[in-house]
Formats: sequence, C-alpha cells, structure tokens
Amino acid sequence: MVTAPSTSKLPTSSSPTLGQPKPWYRYVNLDLLVRILVNSVFHPYIIFIFYLTQAALHVHREPLAYYTLCYAALLGVLEIGANINHRLTYGKHREVKWEKEVVIITGGGSGLGRVLAEMIMRKGGKVAILDVKGADEVAEDAMERWDLVWEKCDVAKESEVKEAVDRIVDDLGAPTVLINNAASGITGLPLLSSITNPTVLSPAQAAKTLTINTVSHFNTLSALLPHLIKSPQGAHIVTISSILSHLAPASLADYTSSKSAISSLHQTLQHELRSHPDPSAFARVKTLLVETGQIKTQLFADKTSLPSYAEFFGPVLEAKDIAKEIVKTIERGDGGILRMPFYAKCMPIYSLLPGTAQALVRWFSGIDRAIGAGSKTS
Ligand SMILES: NC(=O)c1ccc[n+]([C@@H]2O[C@H](COP(=O)([O-])OP(=O)(O)OC[C@H]3O[C@@H](n4cnc5c(N)ncnc54)[C@H](O)[C@@H]3O)[C@@H](O)[C@H]2O)c1
Repeated sequence: MVTAPSTSKLPTSSSPTLGQPKPWYRYVNLDLLVRILVNSVFHPYIIFIFYLTQAALHVHREPLAYYTLCYAALLGVLEIGANINHRLTYGKHREVKWEKEVVIITGGGSGLGRVLAEMIMRKGGKVAILDVKGADEVAEDAMERWDLVWEKCDVAKESEVKEAVDRIVDDLGAPTVLINNAASGITGLPLLSSITNPTVLSPAQAAKTLTINTVSHFNTLSALLPHLIKSPQGAHIVTISSILSHLAPASLADYTSSKSAISSLHQTLQHELRSHPDPSAFARVKTLLVETGQIKTQLFADKTSLPSYAEFFGPVLEAKDIAKEIVKTIERGDGGILRMPFYAKCMPIYSLLPGTAQALVRWFSGIDRAIGAGSKTS
C-alpha cells in the first residue's frame, strides 16, 4: 500500500466541515480576549518595549517607568520559571525530523485523527491510520502518492492491532509516534431513568465504550511500546483524552469514565518512563496528553445543546486548530499536557473551588443539561 513520497499535489482534505460559517461576532470569545491580553499587557517584551519608549522620552525616572520595568521583570521571571518547571517535569526535547518519523494514528479515518494525518503527511512524515472504517476514495488516492498506510482494524481487538502493527513495521519501518485518538460514538444515555429520558445506559453499552476508548490504548501500547522505547531517535506517545474527564457531565458516564481512565493511564506511563531503570528512556520517549473541550466533528454533532452565551466561555474548537498545536508540540520534540480552549486550562482552579461554587459554574454553563433526550445511541 505504500509508495515513495512524491511532490504532487496534496490530498484533498476530507475533514468534516460541519455547520455553516459563523457570523463575525461569534468569533469574539474568551479565548480571543485572553490571546489579546497575553500578547499585550501580559507579554514581558511588549511591556519592556513600553518601558523603552518611556526611556526614549527621558521619563525613565518617573514612577510609571519604574513600575513598568518592575512589571516587565516580573513577567519575565514568571515566564522563565514556567519554562524551567516544564523542562524539569517533561525532560529535555528530542530532535524531530518528520521525514524520519513513522506515525500511527488510531481513528485517523475522520475528525481530528484525519486532520492530524493530513498535517503530518504534509510535513513529510510517514503515516499509518488504524480505523474500523475502510479507506475512502480520497485516502486511496493519497496512498498512491504519499507514504500513507490505512489498516482497517478494530483497535478494541488486541490481535487485530498486533497484526496491523506488524504490517506497518514491514511497510513503513519501526513506528516512532503513536497517537491514540479513536473513540466510539456517543451513547448520551443517563444512569438514571426519567420521564424525559426513560432509556438508561446498559452495562453492555458502557463496556463497549470502555473497550474502544480505553482498552484500545492498552492494545496499542502493548504492540508499540517495544518499538517506541528502543527507537534511537526517540518517540512520542500522544493520548487524546477530553476535558470532560474532569468535568464528568450528566448522561456521559461511559464516555467520561473512559476518558478519565486514559488520562490516568497516560500519567502512569509518564511516571513509569521517568522512573525507568534506563534514565535515557524519559528523555527519548515524550508523552503528550491532550484534553480539549468540544471539537467540531461528527462525534458530538447534534448531540449537545448549550445556552448561547456558553460559547463565549467555551467555544467549539476546529479540529485543525487542535491538530496544529499537537503537531507543533511533537515538532518541538516536547511533551506535556495540552488543554484548549482557555477554560480547559483553568481546570486545576475549578477543582479547588468549593462544591457550591462548582455547582454554580455547572448550572451556569448548562453542562449537565447539554446532552438531552435527542442523543443517539450507538
Ligand atoms: N469531538 C469532540 O468534541 C471531542 C472533544 C474532546 C476530545 N475528543 C476526542 O478526540 C478524539 C477524536 O474524536 P473526533 O471528534 O475526531 O471523533 P470522530 O468520531 O470524528 O472520529 C473517531 C474515529 O475513530 C474511529 N473508530 C471508532 N471506533 C473504532 C475502533 N473500534 N477501531 C478503530 N477506529 C475506531 C471512527 O471510525 C472515527 O474515524 C476522540 O478520542 C475524542 O474522544 C473529541
């Protein structure tokens, strides 16, 4: 299925284009405001430039200039501190050259995984998609021109994953990046029945979600860790979880518990790498945990309804924006935790809030009413 990379045109994107373009005011949200602030009044260089303009005007002995300089220094120290903390937590970078990377993406057939596959191919990486769906026409076309392999495989089945990985090693070489991204459809069923929602989540449905979303990670790690850990150029393990693993909204018990489990699995793996008898393992194998808010893909399409003001605080993300951040982090050879949009970064603060304040935030956001009776089962 693999052919030599060519310089011909890129495959046409088949990423989901759900919904219509939004009116301009729907782009004004908390994230935009935070971005403006971070690149202005919270940016040490910008503040320092402001100080320099005051110095150029010969007013650098004035209190305003003095406080500006102190503020710029404080921001600078905080930034350096954050960088040192990150480096000590996640170790030094590995060198990433895309043409040497073999990337396995589970659930790369659509949504975020598909966008990631396209972006990495454009960078020159070799990509293998493991998806329960077969390749479509666009992918077939891409496979003729790019180093792309599509393995139709149920990641919930250990034997299928092992066989697919063996074929990928033969076709593309030893994998260096694993992106665990596949997810089963949203059941959206509650644990408790009610007049509006008489159908409850059955143990069999929960088991199915947990097998696809969580046990699959054990399958891919079991098949791939031996390759990743001995990769001379280093490796990346990316876990696509969700911010819902922390927020646990009503009617999503199977999904949120599967996502909490993979977030914990990811952290355990990171700590095992850190305490591995071979100290170079932690420096070579980087781990990236991705916990985002809602993405504009099929997964939650038509299944959620939030109050209109909620989108100001928690905008629905474009898959390409998340994919860009993931690809950028891998390209830097870095690990860490990626949370988007801004409210997701505030999760540690949310967990420190008293229960009543948390309940108020939940009520205001409408998160526990978001999955309604209209949810589809899978
Ligand atoms: N969509 C969101 O709002 C959102 C938010 C946060 C996190 N996420 C996470 O992002 C990841 C990607 O989600 P998405 O929105 O792109 O979903 P999606 O439904 O568009 O894509 C999921 C892919 O997984 C594949 N898949 C399902 N079961 C499989 C199996 N057993 N074996 C192999 N492949 C299988 C599907 O065929 C599909 O191609 C998921 O892990 C999801 O939990 C999504």
